[in-house]
Amino acid sequence: MIFKFFFLVAYFAFSAEASILSPPYPQTSTDQSNVLRYLNGGPFVENTGFGLPLDPPYGCKIEQVQLFMRHGERYPTKSAGKTFETLYQKLKNDTVTSYSGPLAFVKDLEYFVNDPENYEMESTKGVYSGLLEAYRLGAFFRERYESLLDSSSVVPIFAASQQRVVDTARSFGKGLFLDQYNSSCSIQIINEVGKMNGANTLTPITNCLSYNTSLYQHTFGENIYQAEAERLNALSPGFNITPDDIFTMGAYCGYELNVKGKSDMCQALSMDAFQALQYQDDLQKFYQFGPGHNMSAVSGGLLANASAQLLQEDRKVVFSFMHDNDLLTYFTALGLPTDTELSTEEIEFHRSFKTSEFIPQGARLIIEKLNCSDSENVRFIVNDKVYPLPGCSSGPGFTCPLEETIELLTPEHEYAEACGLPDDRPHELTFYWDWEPTFTDN
Ligand SMILES: *[C@@H]1O[C@H](CO)[C@@H](O)[C@H](O)[C@H]1NC(C)=O
Ligand SMILES: *[C@@H]1O[C@H](CO)[C@@H](O)[C@H](O)[C@H]1NC(C)=O
Ligand SMILES: *[C@@H]1O[C@H](CO)[C@@H](O)[C@H](O)[C@H]1NC(C)=O
Ligand SMILES: *[C@@H]1O[C@H](CO)[C@@H](O)[C@H](O)[C@H]1NC(C)=O
Ligand SMILES: *[C@@H]1O[C@H](CO)[C@@H](O)[C@H](O)[C@H]1NC(C)=O
Ligand SMILES: *[C@@H]1O[C@H](CO)[C@@H](O)[C@H](O)[C@H]1NC(C)=O
Repeated sequence: MIFKFFFLVAYFAFSAEASILSPPYPQTSTDQSNVLRYLNGGPFVENTGFGLPLDPPYGCKIEQVQLFMRHGERYPTKSAGKTFETLYQKLKNDTVTSYSGPLAFVKDLEYFVNDPENYEMESTKGVYSGLLEAYRLGAFFRERYESLLDSSSVVPIFAASQQRVVDTARSFGKGLFLDQYNSSCSIQIINEVGKMNGANTLTPITNCLSYNTSLYQHTFGENIYQAEAERLNALSPGFNITPDDIFTMGAYCGYELNVKGKSDMCQALSMDAFQALQYQDDLQKFYQFGPGHNMSAVSGGLLANASAQLLQEDRKVVFSFMHDNDLLTYFTALGLPTDTELSTEEIEFHRSFKTSEFIPQGARLIIEKLNCSDSENVRFIVNDKVYPLPGCSSGPGFTCPLEETIELLTPEHEYAEACGLPDDRPHELTFYWDWEPTFTDN
């Protein structure tokens, strides 16, 4: 009590200045204890970054911005939902009579998807609402890039055709254009069903016939989940938690956060379990859609090549909405994750590749072309943090000179050929150039 009182007085008396009780620069590092860093499918979290400020480097002016964004936070898919409901039923089973320990919250637990229609869709409530996330980013773009928006022409917003992606694009457009939404921007839906769009796509993995996503066949973490299950069964007897349940609980935590903004499930699991859950996801993403799969850079190269073309044009803004795995192949094409392999035996704590750093819900890559008085340069912003390209940071503010960027973005392999596209499907990505300003999909 006395301590608390002293602390309050100290806070009010000295908060404006540095003191022994409030150092001007924090001496604690807590970022990696944020549970959002350990979730696959959980809410957006910024990239850790390198401390570089978002302000354009001194003497530089933004001339063009490209956005590639995953849809915002969403409800689970139907199949994940089925697993969550099964776990929920199991936890709520009457055989448990006294609720104690980490799972005591189960007594009052209610399943977080109350309408099956919501499965697969953006979340609309809570602090981590997916639509709010997209709207907020739209507002951020209005603040940051207003000078690039020309009110006399219609801005296209490209979106892969799945409902949640389109809804995200619309919410972004509303945050950006407010009451001018229906006259200032045009939602352009790029079909992602049936692979017939070939190379003219925002879903390059799906359309690539030679991209075998089932090559990945590792398992990870069994002994860690076993130990976690034993811990929970000892502290909260009666639930008969299995190692598989631990995996489901981790995912439950992420999706309940997306939907409700909070989740007791997140508190029940230990950091050991989260480390294993994170690494299991990282391994899978790495070998299925990241640097560990030889078709990843081919897939992402399709979009990187389009970016390179766009950087050489005068247009000011380019907005594209898509899915996590396709965005990850773009990151791979850029060479941002620098690991070449990951151990499937033990957690590689020293890796650069983490799913939550690159593709949380609402993940985004922003590419800015900068005019810096005597040179043009390009800056990459990954999940709101400036992210210099490995091997190219000689420009002002560690940007990459435009010519070098274009070289780096130009892929080694032709997508249509490497993906084995038949003649009846488009072999070129053209939608950025041949769209029509209609408002029917807004
Ligand atoms: C509930 O517990 C009983 C007895 O242990 C078991 O037979 C039954 O399968 C459980 N139900 C669920 C939904 O887990
Ligand atoms: C924009 O137009 C669509 C279709 O014409 C309409 O359904 C929607 O309500 C309009 N939205 C806004 C924000 O004006
Ligand atoms: C993809 O890889 C798996 C695992 O190696 C293999 O069983 C399957 O036949 C492959 N599919 C195709 C279409 O090549
Ligand atoms: C990827 O690997 C497969 C076999 O594992 C090979 O057939 C294919 O040519 C490779 N693709 C590229 C682009 O290296
Ligand atoms: C950069 O900006 C300056 C000043 O506005 C302008 O004169 C110059 O043409 C621009 N450079 C390029 C390459 O666009
Ligand atoms: C990059 O795009 C251009 C223009 O669409 C195209 O001509 C070229 O073949 C593409 N390069 C690769 C490697 O796909």
